[in-house]
Amino acid sequence: MPTYLCRLEELADGTARGFDLASVSRHPMFVVRRGDRVQGWLDACPHVAGAPLAWRRDAYLSADGASIVCHGHGAVFDIDTGVCTRGPCMGQSLTPVSVEHDEEGALWIASPRAVD
Ligand code: FES
Repeated sequence: MPTYLCRLEELADGTARGFDLASVSRHPMFVVRRGDRVQGWLDACPHVAGAPLAWRRDAYLSADGASIVCHGHGAVFDIDTGVCTRGPCMGQSLTPVSVEHDEEGALWIASPRAVD
């Protein structure tokens, strides 16, 4: 059964939002919207097992919105691939969460417990 997140128009273009969904993972997750494209990731830094990335609610992106950043030790991740491009976990990757949106603009996670 898919898990509902929110409506696409509730996410401003170029922003990120966190969700705490026990049905999906023991870790919170977050999504990043760029245009009609929405990507999901677990909020768990590969540098320190399970460490959250954001220093405050929904603060997952760099100041210019071009990258995902971990507040712990400054790791920078590519928004498209989730790969760390700078910082202490260089080359490691965030864990993707598959997010889809339907014709009515609702965002869903396709599979429950798709990630852990
Ligand atoms: S915990 Fe994320 S960079 Fe160290």
